[in-house]
Amino acid sequence: MNSIIKIKNIATVFLEEEINYSSLTKAIGEYKALLSELSNINLEEETARSNIHFETGKALGTTWAAMCVNDMIRTKMFVKGINAAVLLLQKKKKEPIHILYAGTGPYAALILPLLAIFTEKELQLTLLEINKASFDNMLSVMNALGFTKFIHTAEQTDASVYKIKNPSLINIMVTETMQHALVKEQQVPITINLMNQLSTETLLIPQNIILELALMDSEKFSTHLLNKNQADYYKLVGRIFELNTGSFVKFEKDVDAKIIFPEVSFELSKENMNDFDKLIILTTIQIFGNTYIKLNESGLTMPLIIEDISHKKSTDSLIRLWYEINNVPGIRFELINKTITE
Ligand SMILES: C[S@@+](CC[C@H](N)C(=O)[O-])C[C@H]1O[C@@H](n2cnc3c(N)ncnc32)[C@H](O)[C@@H]1O
Repeated sequence: MNSIIKIKNIATVFLEEEINYSSLTKAIGEYKALLSELSNINLEEETARSNIHFETGKALGTTWAAMCVNDMIRTKMFVKGINAAVLLLQKKKKEPIHILYAGTGPYAALILPLLAIFTEKELQLTLLEINKASFDNMLSVMNALGFTKFIHTAEQTDASVYKIKNPSLINIMVTETMQHALVKEQQVPITINLMNQLSTETLLIPQNIILELALMDSEKFSTHLLNKNQADYYKLVGRIFELNTGSFVKFEKDVDAKIIFPEVSFELSKENMNDFDKLIILTTIQIFGNTYIKLNESGLTMPLIIEDISHKKSTDSLIRLWYEINNVPGIRFELINKTITE
């Protein structure tokens, strides 16, 4: 079977409405085998494992970026969501739909399956990647598949400061440069930098990323992961942060043009502190429309434990939280024991 037919078959599975774990596992296995066959990189080498560190977070080394494909629901849902956005725009627009894909990794894995379905007259791409080995490999995979006709622009560059050459051309901006709870990597600075240069009509993928504070019972959570029937392993406290096109306008900047994210605070009652043993951040990702990555479906939506509260019992507390971009971005918080402070 030739490579294009293989990718088309893989795309068909990714685009299925329902999640069928057995056909998805098979499709991901075939996808990885094909990508590896088309690649020139040695993922075992030490240099391929090196992350790149910035003042605003890190970019994954080629080995780790390549491994992202294994996160099945992530890969499926991004491809499915991008496809839905393209189909929606095609109803309004005759010219090619132009996708800016920031952080392609070594395979441009979230867009590649769609290139076997759409023509270059329907889709055009601007591809950005900071890591040279990943960038070079991505271009050679594109070349091997005859997909260079889709590439309008490809640059090895830092997408968090990149100045877009033709912002009016871009219809969709895609980036998956994140971990759960938006820690460590550059999803937030990349999204803000690029979306601030694009028209308000440009579709953002993921359309929305929501971070919420919750209390967790770790034992019930383990049961939930094993057989999924323990739904009451957490109690939602409140929303901390959202990353969508509407949220940019709300972000203020300080004198050095550093973004100050809004702070939120919540009361945590004595009873709640007693019933649960961990404070966690939940991540929900709306890829596009009704395509979501739900809680625990992917590494990107696993709870992040921020505090063990098993020893902090029998007091009402207050928690203040805010997002911060520095060399290790993420949620910062202060937990205040009210019986001490009042
Ligand atoms: C999590 S990996 C995902 C790779 C690929 N998109 C996929 O889904 O399989 C993120 C990729 O974004 C790249 N990246 C991270 N920060 C970047 C930045 N500031 N500018 C350009 N690329 C970046 C990393 O080098 C890495 O290849």
